[in-house]
Amino acid sequence: MMRDFALEAYFSDWDRAVRYNLAASDSETVPMAALIALADAEDAARWRTLRLGYTEPRGAAWLRDSIAATYDTIGPEEIVCFAGAGEGIHVLMHALLGSEDHAVVVVPNYQSAETIPASICAVSGVPLDPARGWTLDVEAVARAMRPNTRLVSINFPNNPTGKILERDRFDALVALCRSRGVWLFSDEVYRPIERNEALRLPQAADAYERGLSLNVLSKAYGLAGLRIGWIACRDRALCRRLERLKHFLSLCNAGPAEVLANIALKSGASLLARNRAIAERNLGLLSAFLAETAPLFDWHVPEGGVVGYPRYRGAEGVEALARRLIERAGVLVLPASVFRSELLETPADRLRIGFGRADMPECLEVLRAQL
Ligand SMILES: Cc1ncc(COP(=O)(O)O)c(C=O)c1O
Repeated sequence: MMRDFALEAYFSDWDRAVRYNLAASDSETVPMAALIALADAEDAARWRTLRLGYTEPRGAAWLRDSIAATYDTIGPEEIVCFAGAGEGIHVLMHALLGSEDHAVVVVPNYQSAETIPASICAVSGVPLDPARGWTLDVEAVARAMRPNTRLVSINFPNNPTGKILERDRFDALVALCRSRGVWLFSDEVYRPIERNEALRLPQAADAYERGLSLNVLSKAYGLAGLRIGWIACRDRALCRRLERLKHFLSLCNAGPAEVLANIALKSGASLLARNRAIAERNLGLLSAFLAETAPLFDWHVPEGGVVGYPRYRGAEGVEALARRLIERAGVLVLPASVFRSELLETPADRLRIGFGRADMPECLEVLRAQL
């Protein structure tokens, strides 16, 4: 049986107490009317005439066209849509892995990345090293590989650390996977919301014939409620297999979500610019806040995404701090136990803070008062 999804369980335990959400992993969303106002004539007509039947399991062809346009080499036949990135991870792991296989996963991670493959086959963790800015040692990945390794799973910009792997290391990882014929599953849900565009990595599906790119409208676009995610993959037989497995789960996307997703993708530049600006302002505020409270906190400033993973040096520890904040002030942060791995020991003195939301200045004031 799969263990609980610690992060979602934590959210659901404290949901009603939250007044200041410093735990969110997404960007500030937009009202639906504002999104619809961005529609071009074609999508405006789609929205007006939409009929609410089943939709095409892989995702509407016009939606896959818009998604494919976000890649350099991927066509609409090489995209399969899912109910969020979460369903994509579940389906992909079941499509690629069997009980005789082995997978390698970076730690810390978004828990699905390890719990789902571990429910199917043997899994090894490879650490992101906090002493070296959370980077990944590609040699360590090579050492973790076995003759039956079928998949390496990475996530950059990383949740919870905000790390973006250095380009030379990414290239070395692709070369390693290629030399062993191993699939590279790359969770890219925090792309493209990097602090510095020069750090942006290529998408795995573009970079590698066995690269699998996972993305979603939840994070950089701030549209988690649409539940529109996708996997890009050059292997069309694998795309068909992904679709077949989706038949047992959500089956198809919600029609209204497809139209809204298409509007968002076509207006991507303006939505992303807005969300990057919010994240950049918040990161400045959060960095100043953490510096001001030194030596209580220190951190590796996130390079991308909208979450970071500072160390807390207070005597009470992060678990007690997180509990005190939510109980006394309704401030939600995520303590290290939420990111505990079953594969490797993980730091116990960290807490994840999200900085994608518009109300961050107010949240930081309340946090300041509590500290
Ligand atoms: C790294 C990572 N991958 C996948 C997901 C799942 O995304 P979604 O909620 O859109 O299914 C999340 C959500 O927090 C995430 O942080």
